[in-house]
Amino acid sequence: MEEPAKTLFSAIQPSGIITIGNYFGAIKNWVELQDDYNCMFALADLHAITVFQRPENLKKNTLEAYALLLACGIDAEKSLFFIQSQVNTHSQLAWILDCYTQFGELSRMTQFKDKSTKHSDNINCGLFAYPVLMVADILLYQVDMVPIGLDQKQHLELTRTVAERFNFLYGETFKITEAYIPKNGSKIMSLQDPGRKMSKSDENLNAWVAILDSKDEIIKKFKRAVTDSDSCVRYDDKAKPGISNLMTIYSCATGKSFDEIEKEFDGVGYGKFKEAIGECIADKFAPVQSRFNELIKDKEYLEKCYRKGAKEAFEISNRTLNEVMKKIGFVQ
Ligand code: TRP
Repeated sequence: MEEPAKTLFSAIQPSGIITIGNYFGAIKNWVELQDDYNCMFALADLHAITVFQRPENLKKNTLEAYALLLACGIDAEKSLFFIQSQVNTHSQLAWILDCYTQFGELSRMTQFKDKSTKHSDNINCGLFAYPVLMVADILLYQVDMVPIGLDQKQHLELTRTVAERFNFLYGETFKITEAYIPKNGSKIMSLQDPGRKMSKSDENLNAWVAILDSKDEIIKKFKRAVTDSDSCVRYDDKAKPGISNLMTIYSCATGKSFDEIEKEFDGVGYGKFKEAIGECIADKFAPVQSRFNELIKDKEYLEKCYRKGAKEAFEISNRTLNEVMKKIGFVQ
């Protein structure tokens, strides 16, 4: 008999700009994993408000991120793809699990420490409890696996800890989830400071490339990418972090190995190499951009997709929530 497909959950925050770093680090993997897993994906808009968002921006960004992920290849027929705030079970389970998570555990989260330094004027309780909401997101769906970036590893460890603690107190309730951290080639660094992860919150606009940047912008940004003073295209992430990052991007976009890339650009210098990457990335995302432009106009279709996603997500997650509430002793 055929085994049932393994299940997977992941989420991304619907911030205004989705970069090629998000694409190669997460979205591309999600698209591929849809063939082998029963996938559930969310736009984590409840997570987004831990940092103040203007209402009109939050709405616009969420719809645009939804359309852009569809344009990238998330298939709303095959996978469950929903907006977190439309599924009430997430906030409900998060509150409950807050009561099974220690203050000390959350105080040790490095992302909290980083973010509270960065947003020192708004260290709200949501920012502190953010990892518990993520724990709830995951545990509600009883999934086998969660693809995440390295920066989320600590949050996944917390997920396992909280799940084990609850299971110990009340009996088997939550599935213990595995992290899946895609290896090699998927961490894209800033084009201006290859020691830092590419991030759209970088003030230097040349540090990142968005999927929706125009061809001219993309080419310009790659031209300005920081490299070393040598002129040989060779992979060495210690001595040549800038060039190595560009090689990683080119490799992600073309599937070529570093060896092949070194041969292709042997003796041609950095200028030509940067131009080739710019062209390649612009061409790669041109079809995604035109699909996005169609989808974002079709509000009715988008609504149909996210309503269906929310309905199904509620049905699945509510089973877990009910079980949890019964076990805790809430009157049924
Ligand atoms: N915190 C994640 C990030 O910023 C997004 C996220 C929210 C997530 N809930 C999740 C990722 C559940 C995986 C599983 O990248």
